[in-house]
Amino acid sequence: MNSKELRKAWIDFYERNGHVNIGAASLIGDGTTGVLFNVAGMQPLMPYLLGKQHPMGKRLCNIQGCIRTNDIESVGDSSHVTFFEMMGSWSLGDYFKEERTKWTYELLTDVFELPIERLATTVFEGDETAPRDEETAKLKEMVGFLPENIFYLPKSENWWELDRGPCGPDSEIFYITDTKPCGPNCTPACDCGHYVEIGNDVFMQYEKVADDKYVLLSKKNVDTGWGFERILAFLNETGDVYLTDLFKNAIEILEEASGKRYKEEEKSTISMRIIADHIRTSVMLLGDTNHLVPSNVGAGYILRRLIRRAVRHARNLNISTKVFEELAINFIDNVYGEFYPNLVQSKDFILAELNKEISKFEKTINLGMKEFDKVILRLSDKGLNTIDGESSFKLYDTYGFPIELTQELAEDKGFTVDMNGFEEKFREHQEKSRTVDTGKFKGGLESAGEMETKYHTATHLLNAALKRVIGPEVHQRGSNITAERMRFDFSCDHKLSEEEKKKTEDLVNEWIKQDLKVSYETMSKNDALKSGAECMFIEKYPDEVKVYSIGDVSKELCGGPHVEHTGVLGHFKIKKEESSSAGVRRIKAILTEE
Ligand code: ALA
Repeated sequence: MNSKELRKAWIDFYERNGHVNIGAASLIGDGTTGVLFNVAGMQPLMPYLLGKQHPMGKRLCNIQGCIRTNDIESVGDSSHVTFFEMMGSWSLGDYFKEERTKWTYELLTDVFELPIERLATTVFEGDETAPRDEETAKLKEMVGFLPENIFYLPKSENWWELDRGPCGPDSEIFYITDTKPCGPNCTPACDCGHYVEIGNDVFMQYEKVADDKYVLLSKKNVDTGWGFERILAFLNETGDVYLTDLFKNAIEILEEASGKRYKEEEKSTISMRIIADHIRTSVMLLGDTNHLVPSNVGAGYILRRLIRRAVRHARNLNISTKVFEELAINFIDNVYGEFYPNLVQSKDFILAELNKEISKFEKTINLGMKEFDKVILRLSDKGLNTIDGESSFKLYDTYGFPIELTQELAEDKGFTVDMNGFEEKFREHQEKSRTVDTGKFKGGLESAGEMETKYHTATHLLNAALKRVIGPEVHQRGSNITAERMRFDFSCDHKLSEEEKKKTEDLVNEWIKQDLKVSYETMSKNDALKSGAECMFIEKYPDEVKVYSIGDVSKELCGGPHVEHTGVLGHFKIKKEESSSAGVRRIKAILTEE
C-alpha cells in the first residue's frame, strides 16, 4: 500500500462508517493552546471536544499534519521526523468504547491486513484520577486481540493530555517488530524497539483545568490518532520511514548529488535523513495557510533552525544547497501537492523564501570561515588543537556561527572546542549586556547612565515602530548606545523613503507622548517565545528571561534596565538612515528635550 492508497483507505473506512472528512487545519498553533505548532490532530478540535457543537456533525475524520520539534536532535535515525501526519477520527459525544474497539481491530486486520500476532495493545491500569479500564480490555479480547498481547499500563504511559483541555485514558496500539525483547518483563512501555507505537485511541471524558485537577466532561468523546508514516513503513516492511514512497525520491536526489548511497555509511545516512526531513517540514511551514517565514522569534525561529541545520548537513555531504530547491519541488509536485493544494498555490513563495534563508546563512558562513581559518592557523602555529572559548565565542557573536557549526568544522580539522570556555564567555557577555551602571557619574542635567537607559527604551520603541511602518519581517540586527545618541541596525531590503522615516519618527513620538508604562515579567525562555516576544539571538539568553513590555506596543526579551514611563524620553529624532551591510539598514537617532 503506498501513501496515496493509505490516505484513501483511512478516509474511505470512516466515511463508510458515517464520518465526515473535515480536511486538515493549519500547522501553526492559533495561540490559544500555548504551543507553537499543531502537535496532534485533536488540537484544532479542542472547543468541540469540550462540548461545542461541530458544524459537520458528531463523527469526524481527517489526516492532519503535525509538527513536533522537541526531539529535533533525534532526527537522523530511521523513525524520527519533525513533520508527520496523524490519521484521525473523532466521536463527539457519539459512539464510545465498543465501536472504537471493533473498528480498530477491523482497520488493523482487514484493511491494513496486519497479522494479529504482530499487534499488541494497552489499556489504562487505573488510579485516583480514573478507574482501571477492564471494559476496553474485555472488548479487545472479544474482537480478537491475543490476551497475552493486552497490557495494563499506568498513567505515565496510558493517558493523553496537553497542558490543559480535554483528556483521558487511552488505549495504544503497537506493532511487534523483529527486534528481540529486552528481557522477560519487556512491555510496550519499554523503548527497546520490540514494540513500536502506531496508534492511539483516547477516551476523552475529562478536562484538565489545572495541574493535577480534572473535571468530568458533559459528553464522552473518542479521539483517535494513528501515525501515517509509521504505519506506511510497517505496511511496506521497510523498517525505515525514509524508505517509504514519501521520501524515496528525496533520498534518490541526495544520493545522486552526493555520489553516496543511502545506508552505505552512518554519517552520510544521518545527513541525508536530516536534510530530507528538515526541507520537507520547511516546505510545509512556508506553504502553510498561515505562511510562516524564518525569523528570530517563536515558530519562525524553529523554521530558521530547520533550514540552517539542513545547510550544515549539506556541507557534511559535500553537496551544494542548490539541491534543496529540487527537493522542495519534489515534495510539492510529487508527494504532497495533491493533498495540500496550498503548497501548489504558493510554490513560488516557498522556493523564494527557502532560497533567501539559505543564501543569508551561507553568507554568514562564508564570512565566518575566513575568521575560522585564521583561528586554526594561529592555534596550529602554537601547536594547539583546542579552540579556546574566546575564539569560538567571537565566531558566534560577531560572525553568527552556531556553536555546533564551529564544533563540526573543528572536527574536520582534527580540533576540538573548549565548550566550558565558550559557555563561560557566553555568560560573561550576558552579564555585561545586562548591566548598564546607572550610578557611572553625574554630568550636566542627566547622568550618562540615565541617558543610556532612555536610549535603550527608545530602541525598543523604534524596533516596534519599524515593524508597523515597514512590516513584521523587520528585526533588530544590532544596536549601539552612548549618552549622546543611539544607533540601531535592522533587517530591511530597501532604503527607507522620506515618508517611511517620517511615519516611524511620528509613531515613536506618539508613544512617548502617551507616556506608556514600561514593565517586565520574568519567565521561562519557552514561555517568552510563546508569548511572541521579540528577541535578537534567543540562544544567548539563559533559561529564565526578562520580557519587557512597553504599553501594548512592544514586547522584547531584554536584560534592561529601562525607564519606567516613556514620557521622560522627550523627543525622538532620526538623524540618518543608511546601509549597514547587505539586507541591513542603520538608523542614527537622538533624543532631545523638545
Ligand atoms: N491525541 C492522541 C495522540 O496524539 C490521539 O496520541
